[in-house]
Amino acid sequence: MSSRILETRDDGLEIIELENDKMKVVVSNFGGVILSLKVKDRNGLWQDVVLGYESLNDYKHYDKYVGALVGRVANRIRNGEFELNGKTYHTPVNNGPNSNHGGEKGFSFRPFKTLLKDDRVLFSRVSPDGEEGYPGTLHFMAEYVLRDDILILHYTAQSDEDTLLNITHHSYFNLSGYPCAIDDHILSVRADEYGKVDENGLYTGEIASVEGTPFDFRKARTIKTALDAEDTDEQIKLGAGLDHHFFFTADKNQVVLYSPHTGIEMTVSTSMPGAQIYTANYLDGEKGKNGFPLERRDAVCIETQCTPDDIHVNKENPETLLKKGETYDEWTSYRFKTRL
Ligand code: BGC
Repeated sequence: MSSRILETRDDGLEIIELENDKMKVVVSNFGGVILSLKVKDRNGLWQDVVLGYESLNDYKHYDKYVGALVGRVANRIRNGEFELNGKTYHTPVNNGPNSNHGGEKGFSFRPFKTLLKDDRVLFSRVSPDGEEGYPGTLHFMAEYVLRDDILILHYTAQSDEDTLLNITHHSYFNLSGYPCAIDDHILSVRADEYGKVDENGLYTGEIASVEGTPFDFRKARTIKTALDAEDTDEQIKLGAGLDHHFFFTADKNQVVLYSPHTGIEMTVSTSMPGAQIYTANYLDGEKGKNGFPLERRDAVCIETQCTPDDIHVNKENPETLLKKGETYDEWTSYRFKTRL
């Protein structure tokens, strides 16, 4: 297992490779982006299972968060406004009337300091008090580690004031090895409930049972079965596909995704209580790696996180509150295997 810098650019941005005999992962200290993630398919051929752009420069202008680390607060905050300890804070409104994915220039658009260790890369940065409207000076670190057939992302942070934090990673997965319709992927999610959204994709605070709905992935089934309900299910219509938070009922192996085409199976485990599952409904033909356009519904994002807009919907006991001096410590892992 090794980690090495492939390129240091004039602007200080770096491209780094983590590698062992099961996986090759290329990342950047810009936005903690995963540029490529290669694993072997059932025939032993390397497949790149995440979407990406052609050059690192493309990531500076993206608004689709392709492959990016998202913070300080992933997902939407109603009206870009919240109250904490009696003070009102404003975060940039960048998604309809709401603030999404940490504001205009959240973690996805920031350079990190890089530290390489044998089997891992550490990205760290100090997010100054008031950055994108969030209180507290935040010391943040993300560790990307390869262990055999598992990629582990481990996040830690501390703040000198009470603040909000909800980190996710926004890779667009397609286990076929290139961008193409995600319909045939078989998904299972250990969740009995999901969160309803409004016409702006904001979680309303209404929790619904998955029973008898297109959101019931407790038994593995194709993503197509959910997307096909666009005309019949109000929530699939509002999300323009799947773009909803699932509340996990298990504390590991919560999500499994499988491509019958390559035989690649990905199992996601996380310390976090849920995930926004998003079928790339807003990709729009952007130019991707190897000349492939990134089209609508060419991938699925499994954005492990705390409850969206938690500061409003869980007012009494917000999951995303990081108290002064306490340590935020969360992880998500992605394990890859093949099936015949
Ligand atoms: C959101 C989508 C959004 C995408 C890219 C997802 O997490 O839920 O609605 O289009 O991120 O910003």
